[in-house]
Amino acid sequence: MSKKEYILAIDHGTTSTRAILFDHDCKICGMAQKEGSVDYPAPGWVEQDATDIWLDTVAVMAEVLNKNHVDPDQIKAIGISNQRETTVLWDKKTGLPIYKAIVWQSRQTSEICDDWKEKGYEEIIRKKTGLRIDPYFSASKIAWILENVPEARKKAEDGDLLFGNMDSWLVWKLTGGEQHITDATNASRTLLCDIEKVDWDDELLKMFNIPKTLLPRIVPTSQNYGTTAPYSFFGSRVPICSMVGDQQAALFGQLCLEKGMAKNTYGTGGFLLMNTGDEIVRSDNGLLSTIAWQIGDDVTYALEGSIFVSGSVMKWMRDELQLFEEVSETEEMARRAKTTGGVYIIPAFVGLGAPYWDDKAKASIVGLSLGTNRDQLVRAAIESMAYQSRDVLNAMERDAGLKIPELKVDGGAAVNDFLLQFQSDLCQVPIERFKVNELTALGAAFLAGLAIGFWQIDDLKIEKDREFIPVRTSEVMDKHYKDWKKAVKATQAFKA
Ligand code: G3P
Repeated sequence: MSKKEYILAIDHGTTSTRAILFDHDCKICGMAQKEGSVDYPAPGWVEQDATDIWLDTVAVMAEVLNKNHVDPDQIKAIGISNQRETTVLWDKKTGLPIYKAIVWQSRQTSEICDDWKEKGYEEIIRKKTGLRIDPYFSASKIAWILENVPEARKKAEDGDLLFGNMDSWLVWKLTGGEQHITDATNASRTLLCDIEKVDWDDELLKMFNIPKTLLPRIVPTSQNYGTTAPYSFFGSRVPICSMVGDQQAALFGQLCLEKGMAKNTYGTGGFLLMNTGDEIVRSDNGLLSTIAWQIGDDVTYALEGSIFVSGSVMKWMRDELQLFEEVSETEEMARRAKTTGGVYIIPAFVGLGAPYWDDKAKASIVGLSLGTNRDQLVRAAIESMAYQSRDVLNAMERDAGLKIPELKVDGGAAVNDFLLQFQSDLCQVPIERFKVNELTALGAAFLAGLAIGFWQIDDLKIEKDREFIPVRTSEVMDKHYKDWKKAVKATQAFKA
């Protein structure tokens, strides 16, 4: 009997790395996960060790194969989804990073961005990249490393240094240094890519003083890029067939393949993306235009609202405030609270992303009384995820000139029924959740499987789990939303 075949998805998110096996039926057949560590060396700074990320990846790949008694040669292709923008520069000869990976959430490059704004770069950046000047994107992180790490610029000029987001870094490691590539979705988040041409832009590189020799080659999102080096993948040469930014992966995994379809992911951050087909929709309401995927020569675009802190507010409450031991306890706590008692948490721990774009904002809690208790704080934190999503949803509807009829959700916090019901009430929109919550990994697997004919497009399927329909009136919810907006304003007024 022939052995069962799988696609292996590596889903590297900011706070965890997973390896997941999918079979022909698009079902999960095994999963291994490791929580990674994140360093906060100074207020607003967020860094990670890229070598640890690589070692975690090897560990979860080994674990998922071992636990499920799967031989490496049963893996027909590997697909990778990754946290985007996070930047590492490594020495080409040693394969060692010259500095920590600067995480997408980090604000340490705020001054560089202020300088670029003062120089009047905003308009050209917006036009070419669909993005805006903010420490979120990779370019200022690269510039910071080149300026602050001794010898970095010299090494870059000598051609000894490579840049990558986590997709490039993992593929370079997996292929034993043979492939230095990135896919179009990841490239579109660097602030260096012309999203119309899907190519690095020489004018931007010159403005930012970033040498082109650092950059990986841009490739489509779904394609056989080459195989693993045997020592990187347990003696086997397995084709690597997708690399995709995790939010775009979730859009694909949710099968939002038609123009106008939208999804919302509650991960470390929160990300609402709408497929805009082959059209680059320019936002007037604080959203980003970005590449959803490139398959062959066909490029699909998306409109995106990026929220910097969503699920990570719960991690902060668990690890720093110790309000509970497991995030799974929080749904019950929120229900027990009944209301927040007028408390709002604005989780601007690393500034505010869409639609506010205020990199100097600080997080705050407003509306406290002596009677405010733990459960109410937890409830306010969960509600903050929904309020931020409404901010972005409203902006998206204004940009697209249409009402989003239904929102598909996924990500860690999507298991929380309280959150999804509150979201549905707040936005007055049905919310749809699927049985497989690992839609980011599934998206990467779909894209890899399509590249080698493991699946045809009609084979791709996901099963609905539950729909949440609004049960409270818009009058009541709009009143809460108004108070949320006041609280955001108050937070933005405070600059330390
Ligand atoms: O843009 C950042 C995003 O890709 C991070 O995703 O899953 O770590 O919240 P996640």
